Amino acid sequence: MRLTKEQLNSYEEDGYLLVSDCFSKDEVESIAYELPRVFEENTPRKVLERSGAVRSVFAPHVSNETFDRLSRLPRLLEPARQLLGDDVYIHQFKINAKVALEGDQWEWHQDFVYWHREDSMPAPRALTAVLFMQDVNEFNGPMLVIPGSHKEGMLDIIQLDKFFPGALTPDELEQAKPSWTNTLTADLKYKIRKDILARMALKNEIRAIKGGAGSVLFFHSLLLHASSNNLSPWDRVCVFVTYNSVSNMLGERPNPRPEYIAHRDFSPLIPVSEDALLEVEVAAL
Ligand code: SIN
Ligand code: MN
Repeated sequence: MRLTKEQLNSYEEDGYLLVSDCFSKDEVESIAYELPRVFEENTPRKVLERSGAVRSVFAPHVSNETFDRLSRLPRLLEPARQLLGDDVYIHQFKINAKVALEGDQWEWHQDFVYWHREDSMPAPRALTAVLFMQDVNEFNGPMLVIPGSHKEGMLDIIQLDKFFPGALTPDELEQAKPSWTNTLTADLKYKIRKDILARMALKNEIRAIKGGAGSVLFFHSLLLHASSNNLSPWDRVCVFVTYNSVSNMLGERPNPRPEYIAHRDFSPLIPVSEDALLEVEVAAL
């Protein structure tokens, strides 16, 4: 799938682009079929909500053929290449479950702030493709975005350091979670300043991105976004594939986040065929 000039312009202007009906009902079903298995895996790649429900599973493509193929479908890869003007590799891949009644919030943030500060990504030449596994409506915690905010560069943040190593005894230090833990939870590490959010929302507006199952949202790594908790009886599972330009590879750093959160295989992705998801089922018969 190649994006049209109008779609490219719209992404350029707003910092995001929603493509409806990108995946067929059968394809969405074939991905949904894999979800229970992925959510039940006992792996450090899984992050839980405060309630104990699954919040995210990182890097499902390393253990699951369907998710590997999904990340290499031309309908995601081609637009990513067009929008970034380069070959791409996967920087991060996660499924956010946001299950009915239990799925918690994502506070306002720009993804690039995390990738720059935590992973040494040099420039905001990355984007995320989000596949909606169910209809996303105003009740089940749609992503909220401020269109045009990607043009403002990195906005000021307040850093929340949950773990102050200097104030801990050696035993407590041993037990303390790594400093990146709160880059993944409902209480985010880098918080956008309230006055900046107010200014941005006034200057532009806040939009809730709603769409049917099978829609794909492409969004810029500097787009300011958030989502509230899911107060509805409907799950809002979304698959997030982040593509980075191969010429924007991560710098070396001490104590990097684990490979499953920030991949360090910078080889260009090789596309599979557009029918690859349905072929997994055939291969399994
Ligand atoms: C994110 O910002 O990484 C996730 C947002 C969401 O799942 O709504
Ligand atoms: Mn984000």
